[in-house]
Amino acid sequence: MTRTVRISNDALALACGADHVAAAFAAAGCVVERVSSWGMHWLEPLAEIAGEGFGPLTADDVAAVLAGTSALGIGAIAAHPFIARQQRFTFARAGQTRPLSLDDYAAHGGWAGLDAARRIGPDGVIGEVTRSGLRGRGGAGFPAGIKWTTVAKAPAARKYVVCNADEGDSATFADRMVMEGDPFGLIEGMAIAAHAVGAQMGYIYVRSEYPHAIATLRGALDLAAPIIAPFRIEVRVGAGSYVCGEETALLNSLEGRRGEVRAKPPLPAIEGLFGQPTVVNNVLTLAAVPWIMAHGSAAYAAVGYGRSRGTMPIQLAGNVRYGGLFEAGFGMTLGELVMEIGGGTASGRPVHAVQVGGPLGAYHTPADFHLPFDYESFAAADGLIGHAGITVFDDSADMSAQARFAMQFCAVESCGKCTPCRIGSTRGVEVIDRIRARSGRGADPVESLPQMHNARKGGRSLAEDITLLEDLCETMKFGSLCALGGFTPYPVLSALRNFPQDFGLPAAAAAE
Ligand SMILES: Cc1cc2nc3c(=O)[nH]c(=O)nc-3n(C[C@H](O)[C@H](O)[C@H](O)COP(=O)(O)O)c2cc1C
Repeated sequence: MTRTVRISNDALALACGADHVAAAFAAAGCVVERVSSWGMHWLEPLAEIAGEGFGPLTADDVAAVLAGTSALGIGAIAAHPFIARQQRFTFARAGQTRPLSLDDYAAHGGWAGLDAARRIGPDGVIGEVTRSGLRGRGGAGFPAGIKWTTVAKAPAARKYVVCNADEGDSATFADRMVMEGDPFGLIEGMAIAAHAVGAQMGYIYVRSEYPHAIATLRGALDLAAPIIAPFRIEVRVGAGSYVCGEETALLNSLEGRRGEVRAKPPLPAIEGLFGQPTVVNNVLTLAAVPWIMAHGSAAYAAVGYGRSRGTMPIQLAGNVRYGGLFEAGFGMTLGELVMEIGGGTASGRPVHAVQVGGPLGAYHTPADFHLPFDYESFAAADGLIGHAGITVFDDSADMSAQARFAMQFCAVESCGKCTPCRIGSTRGVEVIDRIRARSGRGADPVESLPQMHNARKGGRSLAEDITLLEDLCETMKFGSLCALGGFTPYPVLSALRNFPQDFGLPAAAAAE
């Protein structure tokens, strides 16, 4: 009997050797189907045979799997606790469909949302999206219904839908998994948005570091063109700048200009791409829309926590035992996510810090494990959930080095348009270096600078440097043009507040 084996062709699975495993199964006479990833990254390459999972596999394991003697079986994949505990709306098809198969997509509920949208018309769609409570998944959590209403009402002959697929945050890969694994889901969401606001043209702005996503999207757009017509979508490839994920810098980049942030107002919803009203939404925001249209806003809004409705594809990464994509309704605690779902650190050492929300997110300690995962709870705790990337660190991490990294990241990635971000971040690195050098961490930059700079150091105490750093962070927070400079203080000050000993301060300073 010929057996069918499903193996993911997601970039992570490929990096782990999925092609070799697939070739070994094919050589053994199996029919191999390349599907999207289930998102259990520690098990990739994962093979599925009649619903049973085996992983992580190498080509050498294939014979034992087929002989029924492999110790790498995990039982029924759908019953695995990592999958069974999830509530998958956006990732409902993950692991189960071939990314470029229109048949698979239609057989798993594809296009039902677009059909419903066309039936109820633009106002009906905007009403449904508004009532669902869907908020932007790119970071800011702005209500999608309000944005779409603004674009729909703006008087203009040309309007655009732009999908933000820059996905620059550390520890994030959910956008990539949608684009590589379920590209029609994103295309359907964009087509629904275009129908709602009256847009004729759409662009997907993807980072160049995602070559597999780019190729899959292009293939999917060719196949879906007749279905979404007369709406058209093109893929545009960025050049690797973090700040080009900021929506106005992204629009500049799309127009062929420097990726510099624009002052707001005007909002992109009023004056966006080529000066026309534009919906700019994240991949996950748009990919959530088909489910809402197919199942109704009430079903979506029934899930979630507080003002954060629906589900969030949470990404577990860093030093974590079970890394991967975990979609759940808002409201699970940070502790549940890190310790129960993620299984604690991969190194087996104690969890020391957890950064939530990418490189501009705060460093939390296990004392914050009670926090429900939602926009408001994290904001109230001086943090943010951003694009829902969670990076775990064990107790070998030096948190003053992490604070320095945050400042340096800002300095490197700054578009340079505003002073607090451009110069503040460079001065911030210097101040942190001085603080660190006092406790023997890193080199003292001032000692190696010319006389003039050296004089500046004259007599400044550790306490004065800490105050200087805090003042600088305040200036960046309130004076920057966008959240790159504006949010860099989150990782810096949370590291200082939560891990004072790593800055050469007494641990008791944490309580202050
Ligand atoms: C420095 C910076 C980088 C950003 N990077 C991204 C990104 O990679 N992807 C994204 O969707 N939003 C990113 N954003 C947020 C966007 O500016 C914008 O809020 C988002 O695309 C709106 O879509 P949403 O409402 O669906 O979240 C970034 C913002 C800043 C300030």
